[in-house]
Amino acid sequence: MFGKTPCADKPPRPAVENSVLACRGLVRFLGRDENRTHVLKGVDFDATAGCTHAIVGPSGCGKSSLLYLLGLLDRPDSGEVFVAGKSLGQAGDDDRTKARNANLGFVFQFHFLLPEFTALENVMMPMRKRGRLGESEMAGRAVSLLDAVGLAEKAGRLATHLSGGEQQRVAIARALANEPPVLLADEPTGNLDARNSVIAFDLLSSLAHERGIAVVMVTHNNDLASRCDRVLRMLDGRFLDENPPPAPATQPMGAA
Ligand SMILES: Nc1ncnc2c1ncn2[C@@H]1O[C@H](COP(=O)(O)OP(=O)(O)O)[C@@H](O)[C@H]1O
Ligand SMILES: [Mg+2]
Repeated sequence: MFGKTPCADKPPRPAVENSVLACRGLVRFLGRDENRTHVLKGVDFDATAGCTHAIVGPSGCGKSSLLYLLGLLDRPDSGEVFVAGKSLGQAGDDDRTKARNANLGFVFQFHFLLPEFTALENVMMPMRKRGRLGESEMAGRAVSLLDAVGLAEKAGRLATHLSGGEQQRVAIARALANEPPVLLADEPTGNLDARNSVIAFDLLSSLAHERGIAVVMVTHNNDLASRCDRVLRMLDGRFLDENPPPAPATQPMGAA
């Protein structure tokens, strides 16, 4: 049951062309003049399909900045971002938007649901933007995503009539609307109580393991981070050496 998953090994740096999401040598400065900050100082990263990755580190070390770059929401000063094997860090806006819509789902600390719309409409929104499906196909897919997050029965509720934990689960369903192979999450449980944090985390974890999605999550919650397949520690704009996840507590010492 506790056999080592392929995710648990620090992978050799794969060829970026084969990677769902990778970056090499990312450097980013933010701010102007005396506020100019060297936020990222050469970051390499490879996401693995079907694995959960936790990015942890003190406030201000550059976690969100890295996630924005990986999500093609910002551009690096130097270095490259590869999404589905394509070099996109410096690509044109159209190529980046297309790659983002096709490959990346986002979950943030605050869910940013549209309050005047139902859960169902919120989940359908990214499908509408992409414009590939008809109305009934979109609704069908949205219902099945809401079912996957345990909220099929509340599909017709206004977002404001759901609890905080439920709203975050709707946001997770919305992030999956266009079936992205990669899910980027910035402190997705940061605004939830302990119980709902575990529910949201378990959901992200099962999406990785059952659907083969690469989940890349920034978190302050050490308990949850330690349950990820890979833990990447960041300090002052760099990754420290990657630590393997701790052995499960139930495994006897010295067991093979
Ligand atoms: N627009 C900005 N202008 C100047 N400095 C910024 C800006 N955005 C972020 N920073 C700085 O970049 C560093 C990293 O920020 P961030 O990536 O948000 O850290 P984390 O998510 O790890 O808390 C911090 O020192 C922050 O103050
Ligand atoms: Mg942050």
